[in-house]
Amino acid sequence: MILLDGKKLSEEILDEIAKKVDKIKKNNKKVPHLAAILVGNDGASETYVASKVKNCEKVGFNSTFIRLDADVSEQKLLETIQDLNENSDIDGFIVQLPLPKHINESKITDAILPSKDVDGFHPTNVGYLALGNPKFVSATPNGVMEMLKRYDIDTEGKYCVVLGRSNIVGSPMAILMSKNTKPGNATVTVCHSKTRNLIEFTSKADILIVAIGKPEFITSNMVKEGAVIIDVGIHRVADASKKSGFKLVGDVKFDEVAPKSSYITPVPGGVGLMTICSLLQNTLKATENSF
Ligand code: GUN
Repeated sequence: MILLDGKKLSEEILDEIAKKVDKIKKNNKKVPHLAAILVGNDGASETYVASKVKNCEKVGFNSTFIRLDADVSEQKLLETIQDLNENSDIDGFIVQLPLPKHINESKITDAILPSKDVDGFHPTNVGYLALGNPKFVSATPNGVMEMLKRYDIDTEGKYCVVLGRSNIVGSPMAILMSKNTKPGNATVTVCHSKTRNLIEFTSKADILIVAIGKPEFITSNMVKEGAVIIDVGIHRVADASKKSGFKLVGDVKFDEVAPKSSYITPVPGGVGLMTICSLLQNTLKATENSF
């Protein structure tokens, strides 16, 4: 079993980005600037956005953090987006999801200028991806592809099962894995909450990508011997033996699945770190597109 080390890979990628930013600065070109909007104070979202901002600093990007109250009106959020769309110093921005229930998420995503949509959530960017001409690809699936690429994992002709069909992860992941690319060219099945006999699919998968948001859902009896296991989940579960009172786990029961796998991502230290790298790579691309 080989551990897919997101920590090591992400450090490599951050270093590559930082070198490019140095070059940009030496040439007196525009320094990439990412803005992040956080609505409300959901604990997990706070952590993610803080990490995105921190990593901007690490690679030499400028960053702007915009915090709005949980009861902010949809109109006010749309106005904030419009300001960022029109601000030529901002190369890309994200609105952290999920949003409070009174705000229509797709209305918000639709309002972001596609050329600044570094999350790759706008229908234009999703459309480009579906047509095989990707511009900005959603950060988590993009990070998974980068991981498969850098570990030189053969995906061509392999049977890939994607668990989960969210707009952020499952759906773009399935599109990417099915495209005529390297990595890619896999035969893909998307499974979800209504799938019958789930184990029949998962146990045949050469590559199993799990993004269903259920702690330690995938157990060893559900996976094929020698499978590549990509775990997108991250959850806090109570653990009295830890000082913090909790531990982080993924959607996969790591201890029992790992010995059966050929490659597996740990949680933490796996896909999560790759997501941030993808976001920064997209932001750099947005800046370079404006040169
Ligand atoms: N919520 C969970 N993942 C993401 C992400 O990649 N981008 C945004 N904007 N919100 C998220």
